[in-house]
Amino acid sequence: MTAQLIDGKAVAAQVHERVRQAVEARVAAGKRAPALATVLVGADPASEIYVRSKRQTCEKIGIRSVPTHLDAAISEAELLAVVDQLNADDSIDGILVQLPLPKNINADKVIERIRPDKDVDGFHPYNFGRLAQKTPTLRPCTPWGSVELLKSTGVPLAGKRALVIGQSNIVGRPMALELLLLGCTVTVAHSKTRDLPEEVARAEVLVVGTGIPDMIKGDWIREGAIVIDVGINRLPSGKLCGDVEFDAARQKAAFITPVPGGVGPMTVAMLMENTLRAAELRETA
Ligand code: GUN
Repeated sequence: MTAQLIDGKAVAAQVHERVRQAVEARVAAGKRAPALATVLVGADPASEIYVRSKRQTCEKIGIRSVPTHLDAAISEAELLAVVDQLNADDSIDGILVQLPLPKNINADKVIERIRPDKDVDGFHPYNFGRLAQKTPTLRPCTPWGSVELLKSTGVPLAGKRALVIGQSNIVGRPMALELLLLGCTVTVAHSKTRDLPEEVARAEVLVVGTGIPDMIKGDWIREGAIVIDVGINRLPSGKLCGDVEFDAARQKAAFITPVPGGVGPMTVAMLMENTLRAAELRETA
């Protein structure tokens, strides 16, 4: 079997178009365009690229992008004051503080300071709790985008055996909750999991977010599985690769996401969807 590629760029383009039309309709009805504040601390090259891509997508679909770029030496108190200011600014609908933050800053504290109704990353414990309690509101973008990719295959997902590899707050944990919402039987594997190849061999849906290049070997994968690779790793050669050994996995899976061009574009697309939703939520609050 050679897996079909799941085209993240194409699915993301559909989301962009849906959000663009909704923004256009809002503006035509005399409302203001949604506004997303991005906060970047320091000069991490990957973070700079991600934030630039988020801002460019905003501009393309009519969302106002409001950037703040802070020095790496900023104190936690100063960053919290910036968040407070954005929280209080009625013209801002969404606030995104790009992670990772410098070591001297407690990222959890910063995330908890963001108003839950402006938390377009879906990282605040309130939004995480809503997802856990089956009433998602602003959902973490990468897992939500992965759900859209799973749905794009047209394969019925209820009852499927799903395995999530990785238990981070940004990917693994919320992904497990999303898969539960889809009706999957969910297992979460992590660094203490005893027999990972055995777990992988059982999975009909596999979502991998470990940050370790090519960690999941292609021949572990169950024949006909759907594979979502959340990893984006830069090899010393400069080439990007995922957490799954792509060429070998493609011989076993029915569907697989490429890296790049799989999950990456969906994270940005769902951020746009969340920003629109945040603007609408605050209007109806
Ligand atoms: N760093 C890596 N992924 C993300 C993300 O989705 N949002 C934010 N804010 N930071 C990140």
